[in-house]
Amino acid sequence: MVNNRICIKTEGLTKTFGSVQAVKELDLEVKSGSRFGFLGPNGAGKTTTVRILSGLLKQTSGTGTVCGYDVSTQRNSIKAVTGLLPETPGLYSKLSAVEFLEFIGALNGRNGDSLHQRIDRLLAILGLEGRQDDLLESYSSGMKQKVLMASTLLHDPQLVFLDEPTSRLDPAASALVKDLILLLAEENETSFFICTHITSFAEDVCDVIGIINEGQLVIVDSPQQIIESTKTRDLEEAYLKIIGGKVDRQTLLTWR
Ligand SMILES: Nc1ncnc2c1ncn2[C@@H]1O[C@H](COP(=O)(O)OP(=O)(O)O)[C@@H](O)[C@H]1O
Ligand SMILES: [Mg+2]
Repeated sequence: MVNNRICIKTEGLTKTFGSVQAVKELDLEVKSGSRFGFLGPNGAGKTTTVRILSGLLKQTSGTGTVCGYDVSTQRNSIKAVTGLLPETPGLYSKLSAVEFLEFIGALNGRNGDSLHQRIDRLLAILGLEGRQDDLLESYSSGMKQKVLMASTLLHDPQLVFLDEPTSRLDPAASALVKDLILLLAEENETSFFICTHITSFAEDVCDVIGIINEGQLVIVDSPQQIIESTKTRDLEEAYLKIIGGKVDRQTLLTWR
């Protein structure tokens, strides 16, 4: 089935902080069911964009809709149908994983059997069974990130924003997050908007990539098309070529 529905659309979306233009005239269209990778260097404007799209921050100018809701006037509706894993999330360390997820579920108006079944399923997929009643303060950072991932997915959102989801994860946990995204995208047709600067993760997980640099969207295309059009071998090389990053590996090799 060809999916022509749009989950994110912005026109001229702009955010300024004093003299800093964090996001400049962003025109973006993301199809429902996409796994959209938002790539860009530190300070490019990824987090600012996600905060506007998830209803946390007001844009300075421009317009946008998320799951059909207006980012200026329907922010509560957006929060109800989307999930957000922030870049620097908070977590209550004196709660167990189950207690934390029950708390988040209650905030979203969920309780009872359906909530507990969802919690059990997510903890099982994430490999946290057996540790679910331990206090979060005893968890490793990777395990905490998994619980936060579960909390983001708890209310079965249509669209999930993940801001640097693997920044605190070891390779095995990153691979698990990758599989979880692919599983949910396929099973539930959940859409994902993933900010990252890890090009290999984006290449494995995302079907569409947008690259943002200094607040401006530079390119939007499939990873394969971006690699082909830049005549590079992989997304890392393509990304570096596009944002003008130079890696002089020869100098590095001879540097002693
Ligand atoms: N709350 C804020 N106040 C002032 N400047 C901000 C704020 N948030 C972000 N910025 C600035 O906006 C720019 C984009 O930041 P950000 O969206 O966090 O980038 P990224 O997530 O791509 O690293 C940066 O120059 C950053 O310093
Ligand atoms: Mg960021």
